[in-house]
Amino acid sequence: MAPKSREPFDAKIGGLSHDGRGVTRVDGKVWFVEGALPGEKVIVKPIRGKRSYSLGITETILDPSASRVEPRCAAFGVCGGCALQHLEYPNQLAFKKGSVIETFGAAGVQVPQDILQLQAEPWAYRRRARLGARLVPKKGGVLVGFRERNKSFITPLTHCPVIHPSVDPVLARMPQLIGQLSIPDQVPQIEVAAGENGTALVFRHLSPLTESDLSLLKQFAVQEGLLIYTQSKGPETVIPLDVSATPELFYTLKAFDLKISFSVTQFVQVNSAINELLVETAVDWLAPNEKDGVLDLFCGLGNFSLALARRAGQVLGVEGDESLVRKAEENASANGINNARFQARDLFSDSVLDWDPGHYSQVLVDPPRSGALDVLKNISSRLNPDRIAYVSCNPATLARDAAYLTGSGGYRLTKLAVADMFPHTAHIESAALFERSA
Ligand SMILES: C[S@@+](CC[C@H](N)C(=O)[O-])C[C@H]1O[C@@H](n2cnc3c(N)ncnc32)[C@H](O)[C@@H]1O
Repeated sequence: MAPKSREPFDAKIGGLSHDGRGVTRVDGKVWFVEGALPGEKVIVKPIRGKRSYSLGITETILDPSASRVEPRCAAFGVCGGCALQHLEYPNQLAFKKGSVIETFGAAGVQVPQDILQLQAEPWAYRRRARLGARLVPKKGGVLVGFRERNKSFITPLTHCPVIHPSVDPVLARMPQLIGQLSIPDQVPQIEVAAGENGTALVFRHLSPLTESDLSLLKQFAVQEGLLIYTQSKGPETVIPLDVSATPELFYTLKAFDLKISFSVTQFVQVNSAINELLVETAVDWLAPNEKDGVLDLFCGLGNFSLALARRAGQVLGVEGDESLVRKAEENASANGINNARFQARDLFSDSVLDWDPGHYSQVLVDPPRSGALDVLKNISSRLNPDRIAYVSCNPATLARDAAYLTGSGGYRLTKLAVADMFPHTAHIESAALFERSA
């Protein structure tokens, strides 16, 4: 039935959008419907109309999909953390694979017949998170949780089934802790970083903490078995409450006998099990030996570079954040690796087009969401490596860059993997191997 102004209307859902909303078409107009699954008949409540599409939410499910499941989280539907908990897990995997295939198809790139799917435990996986906090007296005090979907409000969470198990039980106790501080309205965010040797919470505060605040935080740290840091301004102001009893966090890459240390605010891949699989896959695809030089672009703290260095002759890791470059160097030396070098460079500046890093037969790129088109244009024409492994958190830019590499770049796409780094969300991590055409 066609929607009249903002009246609810019923619709049959055709597919899922890249952000996990049901898609339907009514009178030629596309509707994205929150909470609806493919095949379902639902009553849609219109929220907003744009020129080329409209947004609605599911008011009633008239005919549910066989793939619909009860979400584990009570905040599902409101919390912006997860978008797919109502979809059976195997169907989430199928949706992500299908979405990657469709994105490559739209970019005109043929995908390999076999697509690898990397999956691990889909619950309690999130080792990095940024929680919001806000004092809302009319809601009973301080709220702590992720932001609501498409809104800046905080979803109060007392339990989160996807966050690291060391943090989940603490969620319910954080509002009271912040509420007891002298500045309960001046703590907007708590960052979470879980390593294999401990879990850290970084409390961002906009006004100074008093001595009694610090002792409350210390007490909480002891009681909950957590490492607590405070942050008054930028990342350089992050300090541990107890300098003498705060070890640096680390994770391991067991297949490579690596222990990788990181500072609490530094980038690490969100899901440790999937990260291990992804690193193993990329190294397996590139299969470097001691004669090969490998260039690892957007290398962070050496996650892929150090694993590659265990097999390759030489590795050069390049990264824009100088603190990560220093950390990568420290990690190399702590792991007894002396064939990996690291360089700080802005890989998005114009000068990258003139950059000549030397000879490397293999390249790994793991860029941010915007992809790496210019870098790849330069690298493929200047270095002409035999193999390029591309790890991506955005299938759209991966497919765009793949279109270049498999077109004028002169490469074949030989492997494709979809890694479920972020189960129950609509985020898709994927990886591809490009080999120089004969
Ligand atoms: C998806 S992360 C990958 C990090 C690393 N490969 C890993 O697995 O941990 C992307 C990295 O790109 C870096 N980056 C972002 N913009 C950059 C730029 N303009 N130049 C160089 N590196 C940049 C970020 O600092 C971040 O470390």
